[in-house]
Amino acid sequence: MDVFLQIDGAKLGQVLQAPDVSVIIPTLNERDNVGMLIGHLIATLHGLNWEVIFVDDDSPDRTVEVLRDIGRTEPRIRCIRRVGRRGLAGACIEGMLAAQADIVAVMDADLQHDHRLLPDLVAAIRQGNDFAIATRYSLPYQETALSPCRSAISRIGTFVAQRAISARITDPMSGFFATRRDLVEAMASRLNKQGFKILFDILSNAGPDVRIAELPYRFATRSAGESKMDHRVALQFLELLVAKATRGVVSLRLIFFVLVGVAGLALHMALLVAALATGTDFARAQATATVVTMIVNFSGNNLVTYRDQRLRGRGFLRGVLIYSALCSLGAAVNVGIATALFTVAGPWWVAGLAGAFVGGLWNYVVTQALVWNRARA
Ligand code: GDD
Ligand code: MN
Repeated sequence: MDVFLQIDGAKLGQVLQAPDVSVIIPTLNERDNVGMLIGHLIATLHGLNWEVIFVDDDSPDRTVEVLRDIGRTEPRIRCIRRVGRRGLAGACIEGMLAAQADIVAVMDADLQHDHRLLPDLVAAIRQGNDFAIATRYSLPYQETALSPCRSAISRIGTFVAQRAISARITDPMSGFFATRRDLVEAMASRLNKQGFKILFDILSNAGPDVRIAELPYRFATRSAGESKMDHRVALQFLELLVAKATRGVVSLRLIFFVLVGVAGLALHMALLVAALATGTDFARAQATATVVTMIVNFSGNNLVTYRDQRLRGRGFLRGVLIYSALCSLGAAVNVGIATALFTVAGPWWVAGLAGAFVGGLWNYVVTQALVWNRARA
Protein backbone atom coordinates (compact mmCIF):
# COMPACT_ATOMS: atom_id res chain seq x y z
CA MET A 1 0.00 0.00 0.00
CA ASP A 2 1.27 3.48 -0.79
CA VAL A 3 1.86 5.85 2.06
CA PHE A 4 1.30 9.58 1.78
CA LEU A 5 2.83 12.28 3.87
CA GLN A 6 0.02 14.57 5.01
CA ILE A 7 0.00 17.97 6.68
CA ASP A 8 -3.43 19.44 7.40
CA GLY A 9 -4.93 16.90 5.13
CA ALA A 10 -2.94 18.06 2.11
CA LYS A 11 -1.00 15.46 0.21
CA LEU A 12 2.60 16.60 -0.02
CA GLY A 13 3.70 13.88 -2.31
CA GLN A 14 3.99 10.21 -2.53
CA VAL A 15 6.42 8.67 -0.09
CA LEU A 16 7.49 5.14 -0.77
CA GLN A 17 7.38 2.70 2.04
CA ALA A 18 10.70 1.90 3.69
CA PRO A 19 12.09 -1.32 2.31
CA ASP A 20 11.77 -4.60 4.22
CA VAL A 21 15.32 -5.52 3.42
CA SER A 22 18.46 -3.74 2.30
CA VAL A 23 20.86 -6.02 0.45
CA ILE A 24 24.45 -4.87 0.79
CA ILE A 25 26.89 -5.96 -1.90
CA PRO A 26 30.57 -5.03 -1.70
CA THR A 27 32.29 -4.85 -5.07
CA LEU A 28 35.83 -4.67 -6.31
CA ASN A 29 36.18 -5.21 -10.04
CA GLU A 30 32.88 -6.98 -10.57
CA ARG A 31 31.84 -5.19 -13.73
CA ASP A 32 31.02 -8.43 -15.53
CA ASN A 33 28.95 -9.85 -12.68
CA VAL A 34 26.69 -7.11 -11.38
CA GLY A 35 24.30 -7.02 -14.33
CA MET A 36 23.37 -10.66 -14.07
CA LEU A 37 23.26 -10.47 -10.28
CA ILE A 38 20.78 -7.59 -10.35
CA GLY A 39 18.60 -9.56 -12.77
CA HIS A 40 18.59 -12.46 -10.31
CA LEU A 41 17.83 -10.19 -7.36
CA ILE A 42 14.88 -8.49 -9.00
CA ALA A 43 13.38 -11.89 -9.74
CA THR A 44 14.09 -13.33 -6.30
CA LEU A 45 12.95 -10.36 -4.22
CA HIS A 46 9.66 -9.69 -5.99
CA GLY A 47 7.59 -10.52 -2.91
CA LEU A 48 9.40 -7.97 -0.76
CA ASN A 49 10.01 -4.24 -0.56
CA TRP A 50 13.72 -4.03 -1.14
CA GLU A 51 16.72 -1.88 -1.91
CA VAL A 52 20.17 -2.99 -2.98
CA ILE A 53 23.21 -0.98 -1.96
CA PHE A 54 26.45 -1.69 -3.75
CA VAL A 55 29.57 -0.45 -2.02
CA ASP A 56 32.36 -0.10 -4.53
CA ASP A 57 35.95 0.75 -3.65
CA ASP A 58 36.55 2.75 -6.78
CA SER A 59 37.13 -0.38 -8.89
CA PRO A 60 39.58 0.21 -11.72
CA ASP A 61 37.25 -1.73 -14.04
CA ARG A 62 34.65 0.97 -13.32
CA THR A 63 32.01 -1.28 -11.90
CA VAL A 64 30.33 1.93 -10.76
CA GLU A 65 29.53 2.99 -14.32
CA VAL A 66 27.52 -0.16 -14.89
CA LEU A 67 25.71 0.30 -11.59
CA ARG A 68 24.85 3.95 -12.28
CA ASP A 69 23.51 2.93 -15.66
CA ILE A 70 21.20 0.38 -14.14
CA GLY A 71 20.27 2.75 -11.32
CA ARG A 72 18.93 5.27 -13.83
CA THR A 73 15.91 3.09 -14.50
CA GLU A 74 15.85 1.15 -11.24
CA PRO A 75 16.13 3.54 -8.25
CA ARG A 76 16.06 0.66 -5.78
CA ILE A 77 19.63 -0.03 -6.90
CA ARG A 78 22.02 2.38 -5.24
CA CYS A 79 25.75 2.61 -5.22
CA ILE A 80 28.20 4.04 -2.72
CA ARG A 81 31.51 4.82 -4.34
CA ARG A 82 34.34 4.96 -1.84
CA VAL A 83 37.58 6.60 -2.90
CA GLY A 84 40.99 6.12 -1.33
CA ARG A 85 39.76 3.25 0.78
CA ARG A 86 39.87 -0.52 0.60
CA GLY A 87 38.47 -3.32 2.62
CA LEU A 88 35.61 -5.74 2.33
CA ALA A 89 34.55 -5.43 5.98
CA GLY A 90 34.54 -1.64 5.95
CA ALA A 91 32.53 -1.63 2.74
CA CYS A 92 29.91 -3.95 4.26
CA ILE A 93 29.67 -1.82 7.40
CA GLU A 94 29.24 1.38 5.42
CA GLY A 95 26.54 -0.22 3.33
CA MET A 96 24.68 -1.45 6.38
CA LEU A 97 24.85 1.97 7.98
CA ALA A 98 23.43 3.54 4.82
CA ALA A 99 20.57 1.04 4.74
CA GLN A 100 16.98 2.12 5.10
CA ALA A 101 15.49 -1.22 6.08
CA ASP A 102 15.51 -2.75 9.56
CA ILE A 103 16.80 -5.99 8.08
CA VAL A 104 20.11 -6.00 6.24
CA ALA A 105 21.57 -8.81 4.17
CA VAL A 106 25.16 -9.02 2.93
CA MET A 107 26.24 -11.02 -0.11
CA ASP A 108 29.04 -11.17 -2.66
CA ALA A 109 28.70 -9.83 -6.17
CA ASP A 110 30.36 -12.73 -7.96
CA LEU A 111 27.32 -15.06 -8.06
CA GLN A 112 28.90 -17.52 -5.62
CA HIS A 113 26.13 -16.88 -3.12
CA ASP A 114 22.77 -18.34 -4.04
CA HIS A 115 20.40 -15.39 -4.33
CA ARG A 116 17.39 -17.68 -4.00
CA LEU A 117 18.17 -17.97 -0.32
CA LEU A 118 17.56 -14.26 0.36
CA PRO A 119 13.80 -14.45 1.10
CA ASP A 120 14.48 -17.27 3.59
CA LEU A 121 17.20 -15.26 5.30
CA VAL A 122 14.79 -12.33 5.66
CA ALA A 123 12.02 -14.63 6.93
CA ALA A 124 14.36 -16.06 9.56
CA ILE A 125 15.06 -12.59 10.95
CA ARG A 126 11.36 -11.75 10.93
CA GLN A 127 10.76 -14.89 12.97
CA GLY A 128 12.91 -13.44 15.73
CA ASN A 129 16.44 -14.54 14.90
CA ASP A 130 19.22 -11.99 15.28
CA PHE A 131 21.26 -13.62 12.56
CA ALA A 132 20.41 -15.78 9.58
CA ILE A 133 23.56 -17.27 8.14
CA ALA A 134 23.84 -18.97 4.78
CA THR A 135 26.21 -21.84 5.41
CA ARG A 136 28.39 -23.77 2.99
CA TYR A 137 29.27 -26.61 5.33
CA SER A 138 25.96 -28.03 6.32
CA LEU A 139 24.23 -31.05 4.80
CA PRO A 140 22.76 -31.68 2.32
CA TYR A 141 25.38 -29.53 0.59
CA GLN A 142 29.09 -29.84 1.04
CA GLU A 143 31.37 -27.19 -0.22
CA THR A 144 32.75 -28.14 -3.61
CA ALA A 145 33.65 -24.88 -5.27
CA LEU A 146 36.95 -24.20 -3.51
CA SER A 147 40.36 -25.52 -4.47
CA PRO A 148 41.67 -28.12 -1.97
CA CYS A 149 44.10 -25.54 -0.57
CA ARG A 150 41.48 -22.80 -0.13
CA SER A 151 39.14 -25.37 1.29
CA ALA A 152 41.69 -26.45 3.91
CA ILE A 153 42.44 -22.84 4.91
CA SER A 154 38.75 -22.14 5.10
CA ARG A 155 38.14 -25.15 7.33
CA ILE A 156 41.01 -24.34 9.68
CA GLY A 157 39.73 -20.76 9.90
CA THR A 158 36.26 -22.04 10.69
CA PHE A 159 37.60 -24.34 13.39
CA VAL A 160 39.53 -21.53 15.08
CA ALA A 161 36.68 -19.08 14.72
CA GLN A 162 34.19 -21.47 16.28
CA ARG A 163 36.32 -21.56 19.38
CA ALA A 164 36.80 -17.79 19.45
CA ILE A 165 33.07 -17.05 19.48
CA SER A 166 30.75 -18.86 21.78
CA ALA A 167 28.18 -19.87 19.17
CA ARG A 168 28.69 -23.28 17.56
CA ILE A 169 27.84 -22.45 14.00
CA THR A 170 29.05 -24.30 10.95
CA ASP A 171 30.17 -21.34 8.83
CA PRO A 172 31.27 -18.36 10.95
CA MET A 173 33.28 -17.07 7.98
CA SER A 174 30.33 -16.88 5.65
CA GLY A 175 30.08 -13.71 3.60
CA PHE A 176 26.34 -14.31 3.07
CA PHE A 177 24.00 -13.51 5.95
CA ALA A 178 21.19 -11.30 7.22
CA THR A 179 20.87 -9.49 10.50
CA ARG A 180 19.12 -6.60 12.24
CA ARG A 181 20.47 -3.18 11.33
CA ASP A 182 20.18 -1.83 14.89
CA LEU A 183 22.48 -4.60 16.07
CA VAL A 184 25.20 -3.50 13.66
CA GLU A 185 24.62 0.21 14.32
CA ALA A 186 25.22 -0.34 18.03
CA MET A 187 28.66 -1.90 17.46
CA ALA A 188 29.75 -0.11 14.28
CA SER A 189 32.60 1.82 15.87
CA ARG A 190 34.09 -1.35 17.36
CA LEU A 191 34.12 -3.35 14.15
CA ASN A 192 37.27 -4.03 12.21
CA LYS A 193 37.22 -2.24 8.87
CA GLN A 194 39.96 -4.32 7.25
CA GLY A 195 39.83 -7.95 6.32
CA PHE A 196 37.20 -10.35 5.12
CA LYS A 197 35.66 -11.71 8.29
CA ILE A 198 32.85 -9.30 8.84
CA LEU A 199 30.34 -11.86 10.11
CA PHE A 200 32.84 -13.33 12.55
CA ASP A 201 33.59 -9.87 13.89
CA ILE A 202 29.93 -8.96 14.29
CA LEU A 203 29.18 -12.29 15.99
CA SER A 204 32.03 -11.96 18.45
CA ASN A 205 30.90 -8.43 19.32
CA ALA A 206 27.30 -9.49 19.73
CA GLY A 207 28.02 -11.80 22.66
CA PRO A 208 26.52 -15.20 23.47
CA ASP A 209 22.83 -14.31 23.82
CA VAL A 210 21.89 -14.17 20.19
CA ARG A 211 19.51 -16.29 18.20
CA ILE A 212 21.07 -17.67 15.07
CA ALA A 213 19.48 -19.54 12.19
CA GLU A 214 21.63 -21.40 9.68
CA LEU A 215 20.48 -22.01 6.14
CA PRO A 216 22.47 -24.37 3.94
CA TYR A 217 23.21 -23.59 0.31
CA ARG A 218 25.60 -24.71 -2.37
CA PHE A 219 28.55 -22.36 -2.81
CA ALA A 220 29.00 -21.82 -6.54
CA THR A 221 32.22 -21.28 -8.48
CA ARG A 222 33.01 -17.68 -9.27
CA SER A 223 31.58 -16.79 -12.66
CA ALA A 224 33.78 -13.88 -13.80
CA GLY A 225 36.73 -11.90 -12.49
CA GLU A 226 38.99 -13.15 -9.71
CA SER A 227 38.94 -13.63 -5.96
CA LYS A 228 40.56 -10.95 -3.81
CA MET A 229 41.26 -13.39 -1.01
CA ASP A 230 45.01 -13.83 -0.61
CA HIS A 231 47.64 -14.28 2.10
CA ARG A 232 47.14 -10.65 3.16
CA VAL A 233 43.53 -11.42 3.88
CA ALA A 234 44.52 -14.52 5.85
CA LEU A 235 46.96 -12.40 7.89
CA GLN A 236 44.28 -9.83 8.58
CA PHE A 237 42.10 -12.60 9.90
CA LEU A 238 44.87 -13.84 12.16
CA GLU A 239 45.22 -10.25 13.36
CA LEU A 240 41.54 -10.12 14.22
CA LEU A 241 41.77 -13.40 16.13
CA VAL A 242 44.77 -12.26 18.17
CA ALA A 243 43.10 -8.95 18.98
CA LYS A 244 39.91 -10.73 20.04
CA ALA A 245 41.71 -13.36 22.12
CA THR A 246 43.72 -10.71 24.03
CA ARG A 247 40.93 -8.12 24.18
CA GLY A 248 42.85 -5.78 21.94
CA VAL A 249 46.00 -5.69 24.10
CA VAL A 250 48.21 -7.65 21.73
CA SER A 251 48.22 -7.04 18.01
CA LEU A 252 49.82 -9.12 15.31
CA ARG A 253 52.15 -6.18 14.73
CA LEU A 254 53.38 -6.35 18.29
CA ILE A 255 53.98 -10.08 17.93
CA PHE A 256 55.97 -9.57 14.73
CA PHE A 257 57.90 -6.70 16.32
CA VAL A 258 58.86 -8.90 19.27
CA LEU A 259 59.84 -11.78 16.95
CA VAL A 260 62.02 -9.48 14.86
CA GLY A 261 63.50 -8.13 18.09
CA VAL A 262 64.32 -11.60 19.40
CA ALA A 263 65.90 -12.57 16.08
CA GLY A 264 67.88 -9.31 16.24
CA LEU A 265 69.13 -10.16 19.72
CA ALA A 266 70.39 -13.54 18.49
CA LEU A 267 72.13 -11.84 15.57
CA HIS A 268 73.67 -9.29 17.91
CA MET A 269 75.12 -11.99 20.13
CA ALA A 270 76.42 -13.96 17.15
CA LEU A 271 78.12 -10.86 15.72
CA LEU A 272 79.61 -9.99 19.09
CA VAL A 273 81.04 -13.47 19.55
CA ALA A 274 82.44 -13.45 16.00
CA ALA A 275 84.03 -10.03 16.40
CA LEU A 276 85.57 -10.91 19.75
CA ALA A 277 86.93 -14.12 18.27
CA THR A 278 88.83 -12.10 15.65
CA GLY A 279 90.47 -10.11 18.44
CA THR A 280 88.43 -6.88 18.11
CA ASP A 281 88.25 -5.01 21.40
CA PHE A 282 84.94 -5.24 23.23
CA ALA A 283 83.69 -1.66 22.79
CA ARG A 284 84.26 -1.72 19.05
CA ALA A 285 82.73 -5.21 18.70
CA GLN A 286 79.67 -4.21 20.67
CA ALA A 287 79.24 -0.97 18.69
CA THR A 288 79.53 -2.76 15.33
CA ALA A 289 77.10 -5.46 16.37
CA THR A 290 74.65 -2.80 17.59
CA VAL A 291 74.70 -0.81 14.36
CA VAL A 292 74.35 -3.88 12.13
CA THR A 293 71.55 -5.29 14.28
CA MET A 294 69.69 -1.99 14.26
CA ILE A 295 69.73 -1.86 10.45
CA VAL A 296 68.75 -5.51 10.12
CA ASN A 297 65.95 -5.03 12.66
CA PHE A 298 64.66 -2.04 10.81
CA SER A 299 64.66 -3.98 7.53
CA GLY A 300 62.91 -6.93 9.17
CA ASN A 301 60.18 -4.75 10.61
CA ASN A 302 59.85 -2.88 7.36
CA LEU A 303 59.50 -6.17 5.50
CA VAL A 304 57.20 -8.04 7.88
CA THR A 305 55.74 -6.00 10.72
CA TYR A 306 54.87 -3.00 8.58
CA ARG A 307 54.58 -4.78 5.25
CA ASP A 308 51.44 -2.78 4.49
CA GLN A 309 53.28 0.53 4.94
CA ARG A 310 56.65 -0.57 3.59
CA LEU A 311 59.18 2.24 3.15
CA ARG A 312 61.19 2.31 -0.05
CA GLY A 313 64.00 4.40 -1.58
CA ARG A 314 64.57 7.67 0.27
CA GLY A 315 61.80 6.79 2.68
CA PHE A 316 63.79 3.68 3.60
CA LEU A 317 66.97 5.69 4.25
CA ARG A 318 65.16 8.27 6.33
CA GLY A 319 63.42 5.39 8.11
CA VAL A 320 66.74 3.71 9.08
CA LEU A 321 68.06 6.99 10.49
CA ILE A 322 64.97 7.87 12.53
CA TYR A 323 64.59 4.25 13.65
CA SER A 324 68.20 4.10 14.84
CA ALA A 325 67.94 7.43 16.65
CA LEU A 326 64.72 6.40 18.42
CA CYS A 327 66.05 2.96 19.34
CA SER A 328 69.23 4.52 20.75
CA LEU A 329 67.00 6.55 23.03
CA GLY A 330 65.19 3.32 23.84
CA ALA A 331 68.54 1.74 24.75
CA ALA A 332 69.29 4.70 27.03
CA VAL A 333 65.89 4.33 28.72
CA ASN A 334 66.58 0.60 29.05
CA VAL A 335 69.99 1.07 30.67
CA GLY A 336 68.69 3.89 32.86
CA ILE A 337 65.82 1.88 34.29
CA ALA A 338 67.85 -1.30 34.70
CA THR A 339 70.63 0.55 36.49
CA ALA A 340 68.20 2.38 38.76
CA LEU A 341 66.45 -0.88 39.71
CA PHE A 342 69.74 -2.68 40.20
CA THR A 343 70.94 0.11 42.50
CA VAL A 344 67.84 -0.11 44.69
CA ALA A 345 68.92 -3.73 45.09
CA GLY A 346 66.67 -5.63 42.71
CA PRO A 347 68.13 -8.97 41.53
CA TRP A 348 70.21 -8.41 38.39
CA TRP A 349 67.89 -10.37 36.10
CA VAL A 350 64.77 -8.49 37.24
CA ALA A 351 66.57 -5.20 36.64
CA GLY A 352 67.77 -6.41 33.24
CA LEU A 353 64.38 -7.72 32.14
CA ALA A 354 62.53 -4.61 33.33
CA GLY A 355 64.95 -2.36 31.46
CA ALA A 356 64.66 -4.43 28.29
CA PHE A 357 60.85 -4.52 28.57
CA VAL A 358 60.41 -0.77 28.96
CA GLY A 359 63.06 -0.06 26.32
CA GLY A 360 61.42 -2.48 23.90
CA LEU A 361 57.98 -1.01 24.52
CA TRP A 362 59.40 2.43 23.92
CA ASN A 363 60.92 1.27 20.64
CA TYR A 364 57.63 -0.26 19.54
CA VAL A 365 55.44 2.70 20.38
CA VAL A 366 57.63 5.50 19.08
CA THR A 367 58.82 3.79 15.90
CA GLN A 368 55.25 2.86 15.08
CA ALA A 369 54.18 6.48 15.43
CA LEU A 370 57.23 8.23 13.96
CA VAL A 371 58.79 5.84 11.44
CA TRP A 372 55.99 3.99 9.69
CA ASN A 373 52.85 5.93 10.39
CA ARG A 374 54.20 8.81 8.33
CA ALA A 375 53.91 6.66 5.23
CA ARG A 376 50.15 6.54 5.66
CA ALA A 377 49.66 10.27 5.33
N1 GDD B 1 34.15 -2.76 -1.68
C1 GDD B 1 35.02 -3.79 -1.64
N2 GDD B 1 36.29 -3.58 -1.18
N3 GDD B 1 34.63 -5.01 -2.05
C2 GDD B 1 35.51 -6.03 -1.99
C3 GDD B 1 36.84 -5.88 -1.53
C4 GDD B 1 37.23 -4.58 -1.10
O1 GDD B 1 38.36 -4.32 -0.68
N4 GDD B 1 37.46 -7.09 -1.61
C5 GDD B 1 36.56 -7.95 -2.11
N5 GDD B 1 35.38 -7.32 -2.36
C6 GDD B 1 34.12 -7.89 -2.86
C7 GDD B 1 34.24 -8.70 -4.12
O2 GDD B 1 34.05 -7.91 -5.26
C8 GDD B 1 33.11 -9.71 -3.94
O3 GDD B 1 31.87 -9.17 -4.32
C9 GDD B 1 33.11 -9.95 -2.45
O4 GDD B 1 33.68 -8.78 -1.86
C10 GDD B 1 33.89 -11.21 -2.03
O5 GDD B 1 35.18 -11.15 -2.57
P1 GDD B 1 35.87 -12.41 -3.26
O6 GDD B 1 37.21 -11.97 -3.67
O7 GDD B 1 34.97 -13.03 -4.26
O8 GDD B 1 35.97 -13.34 -1.97
P2 GDD B 1 36.04 -14.93 -1.91
O9 GDD B 1 35.04 -15.57 -2.80
O10 GDD B 1 37.45 -15.33 -2.03
O11 GDD B 1 35.61 -15.12 -0.37
C11 GDD B 1 34.30 -15.55 -0.04
O12 GDD B 1 34.45 -16.56 0.89
C12 GDD B 1 35.00 -16.16 2.15
C13 GDD B 1 35.13 -17.33 3.06
O13 GDD B 1 36.05 -18.23 2.56
C14 GDD B 1 33.50 -14.39 0.53
O14 GDD B 1 32.15 -14.80 0.68
C15 GDD B 1 33.98 -13.93 1.88
O15 GDD B 1 33.07 -12.96 2.40
C16 GDD B 1 34.08 -15.12 2.77
O16 GDD B 1 34.60 -14.72 4.03
MN1 MN C 1 34.02 -14.87 -4.31
